[in-house]
Amino acid sequence: MSEPTGGPLPILLDCDPGHDDAVAILLALGSPGVRLLGITTCFGNCAVADATRNAQRVLALAGREDVPVAEGAAGPMRGATALGNYVHGVTGLDGPELPEPTVSPVAEGAVSFLYRTLTEAPAPLTVVVTGPMTNLGVLLTSEPGIAGKIAEIVFMGGSTERGNHTPTAEFNTYADPEALDVVLRSGVPVRMVGLNLTHQALATQPVVDRMAAMPHTVGRTCAAWMGFFGDSYERIWEFSAPPVHDPCTIAALLDPDVIRWRPSFVAVELDGRWTRGTTVVDLYDRYPDEQPNASVALELDAERYWDLVLAALDRLGAAT
Ligand code: BDR
Ligand code: CA
Repeated sequence: MSEPTGGPLPILLDCDPGHDDAVAILLALGSPGVRLLGITTCFGNCAVADATRNAQRVLALAGREDVPVAEGAAGPMRGATALGNYVHGVTGLDGPELPEPTVSPVAEGAVSFLYRTLTEAPAPLTVVVTGPMTNLGVLLTSEPGIAGKIAEIVFMGGSTERGNHTPTAEFNTYADPEALDVVLRSGVPVRMVGLNLTHQALATQPVVDRMAAMPHTVGRTCAAWMGFFGDSYERIWEFSAPPVHDPCTIAALLDPDVIRWRPSFVAVELDGRWTRGTTVVDLYDRYPDEQPNASVALELDAERYWDLVLAALDRLGAAT
């Protein structure tokens, strides 16, 4: 959704690139409907230093190293650090060669960058999160008043159904459930894009063929990323095509009709012996004392989604 003025929606992206995070960055950069004010990084798909380098390499690929990158959390608010290298490879973004960054990350850390950018903005900003929620969990814990400066948090994580990192928990929510709990209780409007939605965003062979046929490095790189990501999904979860989770969050901001939503009470399990990090989504109002605290993504118009993503990649690639 664009601002009432019709200008691009300014956003902050907190991520752990990651193949699908990388496509989310490119979607944001290639879409006139949003303006990427900065990227903050988090551990997740790889160690945080690799996530930072990967974010910078993606910006270099896009010719957009003017976008500031601030490095964030190396581990969760509580408990052990889970990493997703088993999906995304040693670097977190294995596959085709990428240009090395020519600029450094900003000197301040992610939490300070988020606080300053949100505070200095003339109006509350939208924050998109496509990795563990740690940076926002830490920020909202240390500076609860910042909630009033956040228009909305749109996050990829959780599920209304099964998990992926464990049988019931999705990776991002497993990696830092305490941080998600802080966000869900913060009063900030939240939209949850879980696995139940992103498993509809499959990069099928015709989609990958459209990327590969683009006459530029951006398209060909994305096609090669899908190859690596697809092999992981086939090996671990027996998918025939990889679900490209993270760009669904950006697509939701660009096109109000690409996803169908339902307001719901969402909680995250902090203690379960087998279920820590699992989201509990009360789709049928079975907890009458609980009010909806999130809008939950239910259904994706996949054709519309891929048209949006591919058009943005082509626009960006043609401009590089
Ligand atoms: C999420 O975990 C990571 O593998 C992806 O980047 C995505 O954010 C999916 O569970
Ligand atoms: Ca991610």
